[in-house]
Amino acid sequence: MGSRIVATGRATPRTCLSNHDLARHMDTSDEWVRSRTGIVQRYVMASGESLVELAAEASRIALSRAGLKPTAIDAIVVGTISSDYGFPSFGCQLQYQLGLDTIPAFDVAAACSGFVYALSVADASMRAGDWGRVLVIGADALSTMVDWNDRSTAVLFGDGAGAAVMVNEPGDRGVLSSLLRSSGQYWELLAVRNRGVQTTIDSEARRQSADAIRMKGSELFKLAVKSMADITLQVAQRACVSLQDIQLIVPHQANLRIINAVAQRLGLPPEKVFTNVDRYGNTSAASVPIALDEALESNRIHDNDLVMLNACGGGLTWGANLLRW
Ligand SMILES: CC(C)(COP(=O)(O)OP(=O)(O)OC[C@H]1O[C@@H](n2cnc3c(N)ncnc32)[C@H](O)[C@@H]1OP(=O)(O)O)[C@@H](O)C(=O)NCCC(=O)NCCS
Repeated sequence: MGSRIVATGRATPRTCLSNHDLARHMDTSDEWVRSRTGIVQRYVMASGESLVELAAEASRIALSRAGLKPTAIDAIVVGTISSDYGFPSFGCQLQYQLGLDTIPAFDVAAACSGFVYALSVADASMRAGDWGRVLVIGADALSTMVDWNDRSTAVLFGDGAGAAVMVNEPGDRGVLSSLLRSSGQYWELLAVRNRGVQTTIDSEARRQSADAIRMKGSELFKLAVKSMADITLQVAQRACVSLQDIQLIVPHQANLRIINAVAQRLGLPPEKVFTNVDRYGNTSAASVPIALDEALESNRIHDNDLVMLNACGGGLTWGANLLRW
C-alpha cells in the first residue's frame, strides 16, 4: 500500500501587489526586490478575507478534481502558522467550513516546511492503516504578520492556500520516502513574538514592530541552501534513487537565489526545478502545494514521474518528500 496525491487545488487572496505598488509605500524598488529575490508580485489578504475560507476553496477544487465528496475524507492535516485563533486549530475551523464532523483535524506548525511536514504525518498514518483518504493543506498569511515599515521583510511574503487529496492504495506509486528535521538553536533567525492584533495591508491597525516578523536574512539564506540540498540528497539516497532520475523538484518558493543555489549544489539543471516565486512571493506552508498545483496544471508532471518536494523555514525546520507520481 502507498499513499498517493490524486489531486491538488490552490486559492489566493484577491489583492495582488506588484513590487512597483510596494515601492509607492516604502523605500524599495522593483529592481532591488527582483534581483535579490526573483519576486515580481504577491497576493495579500485584505480586511474581511479569511484564510480558512481560502483553504476551503483550495480543498473543494482538489476534492472535485479527485471526484470525491468532502464526506469521503477521513482526516484533515494542515501545515500552518496562521490560524486566526490560538485555539481551536485551523484544521477544526476548516473542517467546519467543509461541513465535516468527527474526523480528526489538526495543525502541524513547521512554518515554511508546514506542507512537507503535514504530508509526511499523513503518509505515516495512512501506512499504519488509520486513514484511507486525507486532505493535506498548506495555508499561511505572513503578510498579516509583517511590519509594513520594515522593507527587509515586507517585500518577501505573500498569502495563500494549497490543498492535496491523498489516497491510500495498492501499488508502487505515491510517497516513497520523507525526512523531517528541526534545529531549535536557530529559532531567532525567523520569528514572530505573538500574533498581536489582526492586521492586513489595508487595515487601520498597524502591527508593532516588536510583534512583527523578525528575520536574519543572510544567515537564513545560507542555512536554507545547505539544509534543502542536504535533505534532498538524503531522501533520494534513502529511496535508492539517483538525483538524475528525478523528473521534477518542487521546492519551497522563498527566494529564486536560494532555489538556484540548491539546484547548483545538487548539480540539477534549471529545467528540473519548478519555480513560481515571481508571482506569489514566499507563501510559507502554502508555497509547495501551490507550486505543485501549478506544475500539474502546466503539464510538468506525468504519471510515474519521480517528484521531490523540499522546504526549509522558521524553527529552523526542513524536510523533503520523494513521490512516484
Ligand atoms: C532578505 C534577503 C533578500 C536580503 O538579500 P541580501 O542579498 O542578503 O541583501 P543585501 O545584504 O545585499 O542588502 C542589504 C541592504 O539592502 C537593504 N534592503 C533590505 N530590504 C530592502 C528592500 N526591500 N529594498 C531596498 N533595499 C533593501 C538593507 O537595508 C541593506 O542596506 P545597507 O547595506 O545599506 O544596510 C536575503 O538575505 C534572503 O532572501 N534571505 C532569506 C530570507 C528568506 O527566504 N526567509 C524565509 C526563509 S523560509
